Amino acid sequence: MAAQQKIAGVKGMNDLLPDQSGLWEWVEARVSEVFRQYGYRAIRTPILEPTALFVRGIGEVTDIVEKEMYTFTDALNGEQLTLRPENTAAVVRSVIEHNLLYDGPKRLWYVGPMFRHERPQRGRYRQFHQFGIEALGMPGPDIDGEQLVMIHRLWQSLGLDGDQAPRLELNSLGELVERQAHRKALIEHFQSHASILDADAQRRLLTNPLRILDSKNPAMQPVIQSAPLLTDFLGDASRVHLAAVVETLERRGIAYSMNPRLVRGLDYYNLTVFEWVTDRLGAQGTICGGGRYDSLIEQMGGTPAPACGFAIGVERLIALLQEVAAPALPPALDVYVVHWGEASERAAMQVAEQCRSAGLRVQMHCGEASLKSQMKKADQSGAQCAVLMGEDERTQGVVTVKPLRAEGGLIQQDRVSIADAAAVICGLLKRRENKDS
Ligand code: HAM
Repeated sequence: MAAQQKIAGVKGMNDLLPDQSGLWEWVEARVSEVFRQYGYRAIRTPILEPTALFVRGIGEVTDIVEKEMYTFTDALNGEQLTLRPENTAAVVRSVIEHNLLYDGPKRLWYVGPMFRHERPQRGRYRQFHQFGIEALGMPGPDIDGEQLVMIHRLWQSLGLDGDQAPRLELNSLGELVERQAHRKALIEHFQSHASILDADAQRRLLTNPLRILDSKNPAMQPVIQSAPLLTDFLGDASRVHLAAVVETLERRGIAYSMNPRLVRGLDYYNLTVFEWVTDRLGAQGTICGGGRYDSLIEQMGGTPAPACGFAIGVERLIALLQEVAAPALPPALDVYVVHWGEASERAAMQVAEQCRSAGLRVQMHCGEASLKSQMKKADQSGAQCAVLMGEDERTQGVVTVKPLRAEGGLIQQDRVSIADAAAVICGLLKRRENKDS
């Protein structure tokens, strides 16, 4: 048969390999723990949703909806479907569909893959992952402030301290009437500089002029810099809301900077918006983004209810950790069980199961191999110790415990009874942990 051609994965979509997965699991455990500390409960929604959900939810004139969505027609029933580019619209859909707000506000969190057809580069992928939070039904600035405090706690729990942690940029997008007045002023401003606008900006001028502020086109930066600021159009209630969020940050000693040009790339926001950014990852330095979206639930057909949330890009967060503060992860394996002789294999399995019942991570050698080659595999496995079971051990009812990484002779090779093996190994590893800490 002719050699088959290899099939490569989809561009911009990554495999998470075992050498990396330990760090992902560590981060996931920490993040979900902090979310739970603030009373958030998990929600899982499908990765496919009707296309209309994102068009209506995110906004027709946004980069995501205009050019980044993986949209297709289901050949089996003609439905228009989209791989979720973000999860806020989907959570809102689910909350409405299951009437989750019937008995009061809800705090929800999620983690999972999102899909955007962007040009791949470091920190920007076509499949990426987000940790996300949506707090639904709470109108006051207290929940906005609490979410920022929670994110700050999260950086700390990941070991990102001081200037290693992302820094917070904050803005208020005000309410609809304020944005409309600002929009009018923006259109007038850009119209008076029409010759400088590129084709994209020309097109957006009358549909969504706020998006022009997102443009990275260097030629347009002067006209963007001199554009009227939404801040100058905020009414009293919006100012009071923002001041309360700022007050929480100051009370908790969380540094922030006001960025009046922060508009976010999705249309559903009002009042508080924020991003946490780092300079350590090149162009894709936004680790987390979010804000308030008080009209989205109503816009998606639900009973009006305010809401506030954010999402963290997992790949970017992991890249930052690897750059500045990669944690020392616990070993993936505690014990490698080596055995020779048919009868010993059964006894070895009994010891392996006893060790697993005691909470140890155990890999038992599979297949025929010499003692030497099994010991080599044990060493390569990264396990802390090998448990050896041969005919001699089996007939005496013992195992040999051999340290594999006992720098400084911490654990001596020893024979222990089968019945005691699990407890002895737990004790030895605990001692090691204490010595290391
Ligand atoms: P977003 O700003 O579009 O917001 O995305 C949040 C985060 O996801 C970004 O700050 C970034 O870290 C990460 N991210 C976005 N696109 C990519 C990509 N192509 N590759 C790698 N990472 C990426 C949202 O998605 C909103 N749903 C957040 C939200 C929740 N607002 C309210 N609730």
